[in-house]
Amino acid sequence: MILLEIGAGLVGILLWAFFVEPNWYRLRRITIHGQKKVRKPITILHLSDIHFVGSEGSKRGFFQKLSMLNPDLIFLTGDIIDNNEGIDTAVRLISGLRARYGTFLVLGNHDYYNYHMKDTLRYHMGLGKTSMDHNNVPRFVSEMKRIGVRVLINESTKLDVHGTPVLIGGTDDPVTQRIDFEKALHGLSPQTLNVLLTHHLDALLKLSHHGVDLVFAGHTHGGQLRFPVLGAPICETKLGRRYVEGLHRYKEITLFVSRGLGAGRTLFPRFACRPEAIFFEVRPD
Ligand SMILES: [Fe+2]
Repeated sequence: MILLEIGAGLVGILLWAFFVEPNWYRLRRITIHGQKKVRKPITILHLSDIHFVGSEGSKRGFFQKLSMLNPDLIFLTGDIIDNNEGIDTAVRLISGLRARYGTFLVLGNHDYYNYHMKDTLRYHMGLGKTSMDHNNVPRFVSEMKRIGVRVLINESTKLDVHGTPVLIGGTDDPVTQRIDFEKALHGLSPQTLNVLLTHHLDALLKLSHHGVDLVFAGHTHGGQLRFPVLGAPICETKLGRRYVEGLHRYKEITLFVSRGLGAGRTLFPRFACRPEAIFFEVRPD
């Protein structure tokens, strides 16, 4: 009888992890205080690791809610598509989002490569970070530009947000070793609020520039599976287990790591780690 109950419990957990939680999106609201360079509060919508495929699935309804937020800025920090079929889905759903001062995107490893099960297993065993199957990145980038998204591939841009001078720098994919910080942070100055977008927070281990104020990253998916006491057994960062998700201080930088809004289509279960979008208010006080 006890074995039967344990078996039923395990089946319930598996059904939850595979079919319920990956589609149970949450909108998280976070206030970042103490950013002295900010003259008026700035709102930011951060999305990461959406892993769009050919069908919109349950993401459509959630994106309709996001389209009503109208933040100042939208940041997309990589793994936006999972395969080429995801490009058109990304166009349909991202084009419905609006931001007063623009939408900015950086690329992740899944934007470059179509990972099949064998590639994903090799990746998680540390045997290789790439796949033989390339996604059509030029088409993805040109489609994003066509709908007004600013794609930052080792480049930066300056803008004025409610009177605050802001530098937004974006790296190319750190996972497959494409970062050039000299280009990504070109124009960094003490007078600007310096924001770095990068797919993987481990990029910070190679950052020698000083003066970066805010970093937005993804890649870790928050571990995807989280357990009481154990936490997240899968921890894809060398910075340490506590950085696997959430808001942190790293040296002089305020760093946010998203749990992501999706997961690769071959290893997608989630447990106690709901997919998320984050609405930030960045304040001077
Ligand atoms: Fe991802």
